[in-house]
Amino acid sequence: MTDRITILYGSETGNAEEYAKYLKQRLRSYNLKAKLSTLDGFPLKQLITDTDYLIIICSTTGQGELPRNAKSFMKFILKKKLPHDLFQHLHFTTFGLGDSSYVKYNYAIKKIHARMTQLGCQELSPRCEADEMSPEGVDGFYLEWETQLIAALSQKISIVKQIDDQVVPIPEFKVIMGKSKEDEAKAFVEANTKALSDNSLLPKIYNNLRHGTVFANERITAKDHFQDVRHIKIKSKDLDYKVGDTISLYPCNFDEDVQALLELQPQWLAIADKQLRIKNLIDQEIHITLRSLIKYHLDIMSIPRRSFFSMLWRFCDNGTEDGQREQDKLREFGAFDDPEELYNYANRPRRLILETITEFSNLNIPVSYILDLVPLIKPRMFSIASRPNADEVELVVAIVEYKTILRRTRKGLCTRWLKSLEPGDEIVFSFDKSPFVIDNDSPIIMVAPGTGVAPMKSLIDNLLYQNSTQEMFLFFGCRFEERDHLIKNFWEKVPNLHIMNCFSRDAESKYKYVQDALIDQASLVGDLVCNQNAKIFVCGSSGKMPREVKLTFVEIIKRFLKVDDAQAQLFVNALEDTGRYKEDAW
Ligand SMILES: Cc1cc2nc3c(=O)[nH]c(=O)nc-3n(C[C@H](O)[C@H](O)[C@H](O)COP(=O)(O)OP(=O)(O)OC[C@H]3O[C@@H](n4cnc5c(N)ncnc54)[C@H](O)[C@@H]3O)c2cc1C
Ligand SMILES: Cc1cc2nc3c(=O)[nH]c(=O)nc-3n(C[C@H](O)[C@H](O)[C@H](O)COP(=O)(O)O)c2cc1C
Repeated sequence: MTDRITILYGSETGNAEEYAKYLKQRLRSYNLKAKLSTLDGFPLKQLITDTDYLIIICSTTGQGELPRNAKSFMKFILKKKLPHDLFQHLHFTTFGLGDSSYVKYNYAIKKIHARMTQLGCQELSPRCEADEMSPEGVDGFYLEWETQLIAALSQKISIVKQIDDQVVPIPEFKVIMGKSKEDEAKAFVEANTKALSDNSLLPKIYNNLRHGTVFANERITAKDHFQDVRHIKIKSKDLDYKVGDTISLYPCNFDEDVQALLELQPQWLAIADKQLRIKNLIDQEIHITLRSLIKYHLDIMSIPRRSFFSMLWRFCDNGTEDGQREQDKLREFGAFDDPEELYNYANRPRRLILETITEFSNLNIPVSYILDLVPLIKPRMFSIASRPNADEVELVVAIVEYKTILRRTRKGLCTRWLKSLEPGDEIVFSFDKSPFVIDNDSPIIMVAPGTGVAPMKSLIDNLLYQNSTQEMFLFFGCRFEERDHLIKNFWEKVPNLHIMNCFSRDAESKYKYVQDALIDQASLVGDLVCNQNAKIFVCGSSGKMPREVKLTFVEIIKRFLKVDDAQAQLFVNALEDTGRYKEDAW
């Protein structure tokens, strides 16, 4: 029986998705079946017709924004004409993932919770806002929240009892082998075309796919510099992007990795090129070969999460001493009892799903569970670096490659693939619109270390193309003038483009970091912001940089307006709220 429980999640980088998946498995162990979907991917009608208990798990991203796979849901529930008792039949709880060092801490779940309550939802169990910065981490919040949720459900649904955890839950997806000759023929055609655009495994929002051809993939850092950065140009038709928009790319696995995985599970290898029909509760049925499913859709090169292990141990043959030992280990990784164990095995050495399946030699995984175990490949976003035009789009991409603590080389899934692309290669992409607005009068301050310069290039190129006299101040940062000065060949000298270069490893450089240049130019920057209505854009890596840059602006305002810390902070917060301080960090 279905217990009319629905778990919906909004997740940008996969953390909220992981907790949602884990919760579904936990409910299964109490004999409770739940539907699981992204917030945007769930047919909203089913909240009215098929749901009594609703659980929403959602992270906050950007500056207090909703993840991309939750935005349409939010837009829908914010519609003014919705009746205030629309969801009065629903009992619900929410779990937010956030980081208290952000000004808009856990904003997304706060907004969702408030609006769902306005629309009539009743509390099932206490809501929770988890803070990644707290010593107990998100796990600590989750465990307490889950305990309260299960206690609440057990009062509402009489059948709640923990079932024998040796029982393997029914797979989320129905995977059926195609049998007829016609099926085989279809599989052959499919295997020879990527057919990405027809693929309903991808959530709706990613479906507006475009096709282009790579026509340049040039390294713009010195050959002897450790970091490879690419200036990539793609040709296409009828493009309609604007400054600030991003592009989503759909990377795939390399054939040798797919083959290696298939060989580890001989029962998969035997059917790798035959037709599979895959169906779940929400999506349409799709037809695909196992090899293509793995190559184009399954993130076998990602780090395995807890929900992976909490399912995987069931497929470890414990008939031998070695098998029993492996099963115990996998089971341990899948439980909350000792989170350090999982961290030390998977996260710290950045182990991959493919490596895990290699290392546990007693695994025999039924193909029907592959989609329960392995997460889908997520599209990767890149800021567009060219001025809006109909035929071309440019990117500035840092290739991810590093050594783990076990001295193994790791390569980013998408950038490894991008690096391999050659002129003439075809590429599939889609656009993500940004609410970024540029008016044509006030000055613009751009703070952009490294590839953070990509969207600034689009903005600058566009203004130069329009012969605008708008004043532009670019604070660019990198390590060495000679090795990774990405912008070296981007622009000629122009009177209204002022560039402050900061070379952190060049002893003679006037400025080391972008913050140093900002502080050095405090009276200019203060005047631009306070008297000339300047807009500020900060873009780049999501580590310490955005926070330190913001603190620097607080310091500049403090000095310029001769106010105290709190007043300067309020000033900068107000810039953020009115869209004059925009941060894009990844
Ligand atoms: C809005 C937005 C705009 C973006 N714009 C750009 C852009 O213009 N240019 C650009 O280059 N990128 C951009 N990115 C980042 C981009 O989307 C990808 O995340 C990035 O290219 C890595 O993807 P990947 O698949 O190659 O790596 P993945 O396979 O996803 O691996 C990346 C992960 O590897 C780990 N990692 C990376 N380096 C190390 C290291 N040295 N040590 C340990 N672990 C490490 C990190 O956990 C990281 O999350 C943007 C992201 C967003 C959200
Ligand atoms: C670029 C970026 C922006 C973020 N912005 C916020 C924010 O505004 N408020 C907040 O509470 N947390 C913020 N966070 C923290 C995330 O919510 C947190 O890392 C969460 O675990 C991400 O979950 P996800 O992988 O499901 O998206 C941000 C994280 C990143 C990387």
